[in-house]
Amino acid sequence: MGSTVITGIGELVTCDGSGADLLGIRHDAAVLIEDDLIAWIGAAAEAPAADTAIDVGGRAIIPGFVDSHSHLIFAGDRGSEFAARMTGQPYDGGGIGVTVAATRAATDEELTRLLRSRIDELQALGTTTIEIKSGYGLTVADEVRALRIARRFTTEATFLGAHVIPAEYAQDRAGYVDLVTGSMLQAAGPYARWIDVFCEPHSPHAFDADEARHILQAGAEAGLGLRVHGNQLGPGPGVRLAVELGAASVDHCTFLDGADIDALAGAESTVATLLPGVEFCTRSPYPDAARLLAAGASIALATDCNPGTCYSSSMPWVISLAVREMGLSPAEALFAATAGSAKSLRRTDIGRLVPGNRGDLTVLDAPSYLHLAYRPGVPIARALSLAASGEMPAE
Ligand code: NIG
Ligand code: FE
Repeated sequence: MGSTVITGIGELVTCDGSGADLLGIRHDAAVLIEDDLIAWIGAAAEAPAADTAIDVGGRAIIPGFVDSHSHLIFAGDRGSEFAARMTGQPYDGGGIGVTVAATRAATDEELTRLLRSRIDELQALGTTTIEIKSGYGLTVADEVRALRIARRFTTEATFLGAHVIPAEYAQDRAGYVDLVTGSMLQAAGPYARWIDVFCEPHSPHAFDADEARHILQAGAEAGLGLRVHGNQLGPGPGVRLAVELGAASVDHCTFLDGADIDALAGAESTVATLLPGVEFCTRSPYPDAARLLAAGASIALATDCNPGTCYSSSMPWVISLAVREMGLSPAEALFAATAGSAKSLRRTDIGRLVPGNRGDLTVLDAPSYLHLAYRPGVPIARALSLAASGEMPAE
């Protein structure tokens, strides 16, 4: 693969945890990448020679964004559902069935093409690692198909057979839970690293605490790591269940009470992944991220890019929402979108620019990371392409 030295960096934000803001910012620094890994970081004046040299002309460099929550494999369109919501229609998960029907009807080639174009889009916005969930197939064959396709683009593939109860099982919830925990898990599990469940008593389509516990335990027995959609539509059991079962992440956390915050604060390994694009696109209240941090919880930021609750793959937009609406400083938001979301995937090789980690760099068309929140909606971030391939290597 060869070596690349990057110079002319106005501000190198390593997110290595040093300094009061944890951002480990360095000025006058250069970075050497060898075979996709960071081989050296040091003073620009001492930069070693390399096969390729890139001068970024005074721009800031940050770790590539880690988008730890997405539902990118789908076909069909739900723009009219969004428009109805903007005139008062509440979200209850019912629209997921529309995407399930369109996704089942799509060919492998069409799903792959749609996924590839969404991945191109998010890389152009600065994301270098993406988690991708299944969950719009909801048959054994369609869930396996989604995960097989996802695996071509990421190692962070998540089995979400427990997204909703599909229409054909509306009168037989227990039968669908049996399918998810039985033959579907057996067939889809080998293609996934994680299992997720939409634990939401406020939705008639989603899963209650007992169903979610059963599904997550079956996934853990099959060797999958745990993730949970929790407390999205109202107060509920998702957060505490995730902490109790040692899930890597509980996502949304829109409606938290004091006991939820205490549970997250005391959790050794469960990250609260916040998805402010969802609150924006569903006109929901934003959770108080500053309160979570003050309590000692670990937080991450992700897009949740999906056709229902947030059809955006923009991590810079998520950062600006988190700063404007959730009480985070620009530094806290950037850390949550890189090192924080890497932690939610139990990864130490991404999210921080330190020697030995992956050379996943994002360049900002700006002198400082502050511009991520300061210039909302302006496409200043892009993944620095060191390789010719447009596909994310599945490591
Ligand atoms: O994370 N809440 C469940 N799943 C997605 C929405 C999926 C959809 O509406 O298509 C979410 O918000
Ligand atoms: Fe989601």
